[in-house]
Amino acid sequence: MKVVLPGGTGQVGGVLRRALTAAGHEVTVLSRRPTRAGDVEWDGRTQGPWAKELDGCDVVVNLAGRSVSCRYTPANLRAMMDSRVDSARAVGEAIAGAARPPALWLQMSTATIYAHSYDTAHDEASGVIGGTEPGVPAYWAYSVRIAREWERAQEEADTPDTRKVALRAAMVMSPDRGGVFDVLSRMVRLGLGGPVAGGRQYMSWIHDRDFVRAVEFLTAREDLTGPVNLAAPQPLPQRDFMRVLRRARRVPVGLPATRAMAELGAFALRSDTELLLKSRRVVPGRLLDAGFSFAHERWETAARDLVGR
Ligand SMILES: NC(=O)c1ccc[n+]([C@@H]2O[C@H](COP(=O)([O-])OP(=O)(O)OC[C@H]3O[C@@H](n4cnc5c(N)ncnc54)[C@H](OP(=O)(O)O)[C@@H]3O)[C@@H](O)[C@H]2O)c1
Repeated sequence: MKVVLPGGTGQVGGVLRRALTAAGHEVTVLSRRPTRAGDVEWDGRTQGPWAKELDGCDVVVNLAGRSVSCRYTPANLRAMMDSRVDSARAVGEAIAGAARPPALWLQMSTATIYAHSYDTAHDEASGVIGGTEPGVPAYWAYSVRIAREWERAQEEADTPDTRKVALRAAMVMSPDRGGVFDVLSRMVRLGLGGPVAGGRQYMSWIHDRDFVRAVEFLTAREDLTGPVNLAAPQPLPQRDFMRVLRRARRVPVGLPATRAMAELGAFALRSDTELLLKSRRVVPGRLLDAGFSFAHERWETAARDLVGR
């Protein structure tokens, strides 16, 4: 297969590029600043010579978007929105203009689209889309809006010959430097891997190999379209998630942090506490219904595997 990865230079792109190349597929990455041989330049907004990479390819997985690990200033929020919507539109236009459009367009979305929730696990059928939850910071609604507009850009693209799936992915756990697992592991090693703000908030996650396997599964299953949750079936509260990671890393202590301490830490790391404090309880209803089996259902075995690698 020929697979094109717009925005494939980041953490998830690295995971996919490695796995798909090892499986014998031809992978082309679109980047605003290509540094590797074979990568193709695009600007993530306008049509250009890059569009011919999509003509005749089999699958596009659009991963482009400004990193969400930043201070949520008005300018950064705007960039998070525009980079996602504009790149999805550009991919849609390129597919619409292709003489031989790809069979499948997988568009990255996010599990953050669902409401902050402790008690209810969200699947695609009955899950509640966020944005109107009481008692959470008002600006959290903007992340949900980004996700909705991102998915809308794919839905509205006029690409009748291309199957479209939106990947509502939870945190993708891979050992890559700078990825979320790397950051959490470093906190654990520093003794800071304890509960944050009580740690009741759920962490949804997916092991990188299951992420790749889900992409392969969705490629093969021509009957599946629309939003699909890519999350392990057993999300867990942040305090338990970190306890398991501490055990896997053999670090006995993890200092608890209050919400105020989390605010300070996020400020120091130029990040935002929504990433730590929003309760993401998301389950893979459609994947399980379709017969997908996870290699890593439980965080215990996934964490051991990731630490070992
Ligand atoms: N990592 C996760 O656990 C996770 C979970 C759920 C959803 N997601 C979403 O999945 C996508 C990929 O995740 P990732 O962790 O691989 O992200 P990442 O490491 O931040 O990589 C995303 C890529 O997007 C490109 N990009 C950045 N700003 C852009 C802009 N203004 N316009 C166009 N392209 C831009 C960059 O490529 P160039 O600089 O080479 O152009 C970058 O390498 C992201 O949209 C992310 O929000 C990630």
